Amino acid sequence: MKRIAIFASGNGSNAENIINHFRSKQTAEVVLILTNNKKAFVKVRAERLRIPCITFTSAELKETDAILNRLNEFRIDYIVLAGFLLLIPASIIQTYPKKIINIHPALLPKYGGKGMYGDFVHQAVYHAQEKISGITIHYVNEYYDEGTIIFQTSCSLLPADTPEIIAQKVHELEYKHYPAEIEKIINHSD
Ligand code: GRF
Repeated sequence: MKRIAIFASGNGSNAENIINHFRSKQTAEVVLILTNNKKAFVKVRAERLRIPCITFTSAELKETDAILNRLNEFRIDYIVLAGFLLLIPASIIQTYPKKIINIHPALLPKYGGKGMYGDFVHQAVYHAQEKISGITIHYVNEYYDEGTIIFQTSCSLLPADTPEIIAQKVHELEYKHYPAEIEKIINHSD
């Protein structure tokens, strides 16, 4: 059984979906949630789902080994980012090569990079009058949204789709594909 830690900064609906997915699987389980946001709703979800949750500051992540030590302590094999807004430091990336996975709510390389997260992404897609959007699941490197792409899928957009509707369509793709793609990655690596 592989051990997954999820990093999330906000609502945590993907985190909850991933936790529930792996509850009925032999491959892996989510054993830890980490957040940099003490007000994040993901903390409420973690408590409800009885998963330990660690809150840390961005300075702790950037300037100390505190988080790496906690990952060691919990014997974490894979790190999944689900709406996590800070950059993962090099020390963690080097310790978990090809073991850190992120989801981006658009079709990278479009609409990625620093500041492109959550509703900002959907607003940008809306203003550009795109005919499609989608999700990108990728490995994490030291730059925002630039790691190797593992999986992409799209949804079509209608001219009347507001940023809220676009977000809803993209969320549906996330819920459907993110847990399954994580499971595939874990099954296919050593
Ligand atoms: C998702 O759209 C994810 O793709 C992005 O941030 C959002 C997080 O939503 N990286 P939630 O916190 O899982 O509800």
